[in-house]
Amino acid sequence: MGRFRKSIFTAASPNTQFNDALLSLRVLLNPFLYRKNKFNEKFKEDLSKYIKVDNISLVDSGRTALLTILKALDLKEGDEVIMPSFTCVVVANAVSWSGATPIYLDTNKVDFNADYSSLDSKITNKTKAIVVQHTFGKRVDIKGIRDSIKNYNRKLFIIEDFAHDIHRDINPQGDIAFSTFGIEKVMSTVRGGMIFTNDKAFHDSIEKVIESYNDFPIKRVIISLLNPIFWFFAIPLHSVGIGRFTVGAMIRGIWRKLGFLGIMVEEKENHALKPDWFPAKMSPALSRLGILQLKKLDFYNSHRSEIAKIYNDQLISISDSSEFDNDRVYLRYPILLNSREDWLKVWNLSRSLRVTLGNWFSSPLYGAGVDEKTYKKLCYVPATTEVTVKKTNLVLNLPTSINIDKKRASELALRIKEVLDL
Ligand SMILES: Cc1ncc(COP(=O)(O)O)c(C=O)c1O
Repeated sequence: MGRFRKSIFTAASPNTQFNDALLSLRVLLNPFLYRKNKFNEKFKEDLSKYIKVDNISLVDSGRTALLTILKALDLKEGDEVIMPSFTCVVVANAVSWSGATPIYLDTNKVDFNADYSSLDSKITNKTKAIVVQHTFGKRVDIKGIRDSIKNYNRKLFIIEDFAHDIHRDINPQGDIAFSTFGIEKVMSTVRGGMIFTNDKAFHDSIEKVIESYNDFPIKRVIISLLNPIFWFFAIPLHSVGIGRFTVGAMIRGIWRKLGFLGIMVEEKENHALKPDWFPAKMSPALSRLGILQLKKLDFYNSHRSEIAKIYNDQLISISDSSEFDNDRVYLRYPILLNSREDWLKVWNLSRSLRVTLGNWFSSPLYGAGVDEKTYKKLCYVPATTEVTVKKTNLVLNLPTSINIDKKRASELALRIKEVLDL
């Protein structure tokens, strides 16, 4: 079974369609477009209309977006920024590179969002900001956070992290918000990020910070543009072969060796070290891809919702919610297993069905090469966030992107239910 079965990846450029690959090729072959600022302006305009937020700034990634916000807040050495521990290492790096000290929240028991009820024990007179991440698109109650910090007689900035959620009329509730157009995210420019706010003065300070940034390096623009083209052809080739030995996997290996695969987290970043070119402005060439992706975002998000509903019908008991949320962007559908044994059962089962599940976040401050030294540099002590450590060992994410149809989603959900005896 399965030799010609379509391979489904939770990661691996999940939003790429034929028109994205074609557009990437067209832009790639027209280098004079690389610096056309009008694409950034148009992308900002479209985004502003879509999410209904007045002011949008663009940068090369979500991590740069967060760093930019913190720079605009003019943080000083020793200031503290409270943030989740169930997140990607690049978020902690951004806080650390701003000069501030990251202070970590544990994850709450119910879902994958941070435990904001413990904020009081983390706030000191050095606290300047709180990063609130809407993990897997599940919205955190910002109003509740605001109420819980209102007795501190100084401003504590609430920075919302919408890395897993971009949708129409997004309605941010914090002081400022950011998101990403990374290759595995809600919509992809391969590399890109935005900062959004209705506060014009804050927006102006953000724009001032961005003015000092480098352009996104040409080599990286080219590599980014090659990605949609590569994935469009390589993914179907993962269905040709036996087991893990497929033509697609072989080509991917060669592509990676040549350095053509867009690397989401560079080796240096795994060790809390800043790449030389970082931070950078948004590449206009990549904004061009974003203009097209945004047009398809309603379709992507409603497809995600339909697929998540199928998972939810079978797997709600191991999901992060007690009920289905029609308004949520299910970028991925997270499940939490009871034991490592169950985790392995589900992992192996999905591989046999030719589905590669996602692993956000399989370690605290996730990054493939993150180690104890990284944690030390980023002032993170795993023992202080017990729930995060436990959940990172037991989480898996099911795909909801356009790569998977209802039939395969039903099969996956039913087989997982069966293998876990739910
Ligand atoms: C929750 C979260 N926030 C922020 C980011 C940073 O986005 P980017 O990869 O564009 O820097 C990520 C990246 O994976 C993320 O998962």
